[in-house]
Amino acid sequence: MSTVTDFELRDALHLSFLHSTDAMVITNTQGIIVDVNPSFTRIYGYTQAEARGKTNAIVRSSHTTDAFYKRMWADIRNPQIGFWKGEIYNRCKDGTEIPALLTITPYKHEGKIAGYMGISVCIEAQKELHERLIQHEKMVSLGLMLAGVAHEIGNPLTSISSIVQMLQRKVEEPFVGEKLALIREHIDRITHVIRDLMESAHVNSDVTETVSVRDCLTRALELVRFHPQVRYLSVVMDVSDKDSYLVVGSATRLQQVFTNILINAGDAMDGKGQVLIRFKTQNGFYQVDFLDEGSGFTAKSLEHAFDPLFTTKSPGKGTGLGLYICQNIVRAQSGAIHVSNRPDGKGAQVSVWLPIKT
Ligand SMILES: Nc1ncnc2c1ncn2[C@@H]1O[C@H](COP(=O)(O)OP(=O)(O)O)[C@@H](O)[C@H]1O
Ligand SMILES: [Mg+2]
Repeated sequence: MSTVTDFELRDALHLSFLHSTDAMVITNTQGIIVDVNPSFTRIYGYTQAEARGKTNAIVRSSHTTDAFYKRMWADIRNPQIGFWKGEIYNRCKDGTEIPALLTITPYKHEGKIAGYMGISVCIEAQKELHERLIQHEKMVSLGLMLAGVAHEIGNPLTSISSIVQMLQRKVEEPFVGEKLALIREHIDRITHVIRDLMESAHVNSDVTETVSVRDCLTRALELVRFHPQVRYLSVVMDVSDKDSYLVVGSATRLQQVFTNILINAGDAMDGKGQVLIRFKTQNGFYQVDFLDEGSGFTAKSLEHAFDPLFTTKSPGKGTGLGLYICQNIVRAQSGAIHVSNRPDGKGAQVSVWLPIKT
């Protein structure tokens, strides 16, 4: 059996300190920094020389209150507890604040505390992921709730609509007739929103079959040709003749995705200009890019494009449900959808990925 000499052990410990991917700080009993490891320098931006002789206050962020610090040190000094562990925001030299999981433990020499060791694990990625998950959950439940409300509104709306139609047939006075026509227009608008909402809830319940992405797109283009904002657009397709682009999914749903994207492009270009549709095959997915020549996304619309009810359009024009529905459909078919601005700055780019049928 081989034994580890003191020398080897010290070497190993020192090397772990140097090569750890987590930031480590060693302080004396007064909390003055004795040493920091290279990861500390990499993450927080202070060199070893800058950190030595200072206290942990150099990384203290605006989130950490005096009371928080007091409690932390009370725990560490309390012999019953003897350490502190928790999530904290630390500030880097350049002012950015990052979340970290910090552990502070005292180290002892001959039974007495000789100093403290702090290890901070950067949890920025985990935190971001967690927040995204929460946001996603919120959106899903909001969507379901909206669909429920839509269902409740749908029935009375249908009867109001038929009563109005009946009155329209009976009415003789022009003023009343005009007002009834206006009421019907408003009802139609509400019906339109309701229909979109209901559709968003039923994305999973469709039949799945083998469908050609290319055929769905062709069909969507035929349908959308009746739309005033799309009618005069020039649509250019960059697609290989050899591949029919087969995926497993619902043809009507995919058409709906493409229709929504095309109408958005038409809106962004105010009915004039060119949409380029490009097909690619990559890593088991078909990628369909829609490149328009419109206004492009703003920073805000990029961030919220997929949120239900987010729209930058006037009430009659947009419901803010188009991309939300698209995302639900595409995800239900194990695909993805992404929005961005074209690298050449000419407008927006919407990309849809669908897994190739195997
Ligand atoms: N091709 C595009 N170019 C620029 N902005 C777009 C494009 N597509 C969508 N957007 C932005 O995303 C928002 C949400 O789109 P969508 O969910 O389809 O709702 P709606 O079209 O009803 O507003 C739009 O209001 C618009 O601001
Ligand atoms: Mg839309």
